[in-house]
Amino acid sequence: MVTGACLADLGNEVILVDTDPAKVATINESRSPIYEPGLDELLSRNCHHIWATSDTQKAVIETDITFIAVGTPSRADGSIDLTYIESACRDIGRAIKEKETFHIVVVKSTVLAGTTEGVIRRTLEEESRKMAHVDFGLVSNPEFLREGSALHDFFESDRIIIGVADERSQVALEDLYASFTCPKLYTAIPVAEMIKYVNNAFLATKISFANEIGNLCKVLGIDTALVFEGVGLDARINSAFFRSGIGFGGSCFPKDLRALKAQAEERGVQPRILKAVIAVNEDQPLRLITLIKKYHPELTGKRIGVLGLAFKPDTDDIRESRAIPIIRELLQERADIIAYDPLAMKAFSRLYPQITYASSAKELLRQTDTILITTEWEEFEMLDYSNKFVIDGRRVKMAEKGSIYEGVCW
Ligand code: UGA
Repeated sequence: MVTGACLADLGNEVILVDTDPAKVATINESRSPIYEPGLDELLSRNCHHIWATSDTQKAVIETDITFIAVGTPSRADGSIDLTYIESACRDIGRAIKEKETFHIVVVKSTVLAGTTEGVIRRTLEEESRKMAHVDFGLVSNPEFLREGSALHDFFESDRIIIGVADERSQVALEDLYASFTCPKLYTAIPVAEMIKYVNNAFLATKISFANEIGNLCKVLGIDTALVFEGVGLDARINSAFFRSGIGFGGSCFPKDLRALKAQAEERGVQPRILKAVIAVNEDQPLRLITLIKKYHPELTGKRIGVLGLAFKPDTDDIRESRAIPIIRELLQERADIIAYDPLAMKAFSRLYPQITYASSAKELLRQTDTILITTEWEEFEMLDYSNKFVIDGRRVKMAEKGSIYEGVCW
């Protein structure tokens, strides 16, 4: 969605394809089916250059480049699920078969090293009866956008990574990204795929490292945020993604770490660091429950407010949100939960219809004195926490004014 809208804004004619007719209809009304700051405005502004359909054949025939941007979720065992990739490739391959001009397929979805030249290439070649890098182009162009700041991340990219194996595709991608002044790295296809995983794995490692050190700092009575401010000033390290708290969620870090770990194990390499990063992340949200039980050993029937359900601010996405294991645990303890989130309550209520949802953060504070903070929405900085008992998983400064206040690592 974001890639399509941004490419349209750069002056390209874009056709978006989705199998879900409801999403297609929403896009054709110039509305985005996902919340992302600025995206609706971008869509309306470019409504003459972007439209959506469920007809892959038509979209491939009428364009020069197809970006594959479908999801690559985890299977039950943590390994990568390529069902959507394979089905998209079958549709694209069938369309390429009918096409007379050179078509380029760009893999933007996060796939493990070897996938583009493996199952993706095989499926496209089988369906099209044509040869990759000769009759059609095949490129890996991984995505580094963050939800909540995706438009900024697209237009102000740190770098563009392009895994490519044929001249014609390289020229087409150079042309597509010509207006970007950031570094562009052209690599072999598996290198580009690997860069994406290593990037996410390293950022996740920084967070779990900050959380492990944060847990120690709390015991020692040391301000962990200041420690990481100091450490981050080392130019070799930098301070990004050193915020300690209840860990990382979202649709990327957790599943990408699991997939990389599964790939390593399958290939006989012990992923010791990846395993530790995942383990710290699984324990971290449960520390909020341990903290609250220090004050209220018995949670049965106790009204507890949960502020924040999205996996991070500025998104309505609740995938792998840290609020999920926390609410699961509170339900097990038979607590009486009231929750609030500016954007994510609708999605969350489908998962947990049995809890109460407040109409506003203020309303939540009116209804309970005991509060857990699970997402650092800016509006939570404006609340009056006096006389409240607050356990904070994300470091909301204002909440420190609570009559009792403790943070997960501070
Ligand atoms: C992440 C990467 O940052 C993007 O570069 C990448 O393109 C994307 O995954 C992807 O693979 O598609 P995203 O999941 O949207 O982006 O969100 P992040 O801003 O990375 O946050 C992920 C989680 O880490 C959130 O739960 C956030 O609260 C947590 N986090 C982040 C911390 O706990 N501490 C930090 O210092 C930073």
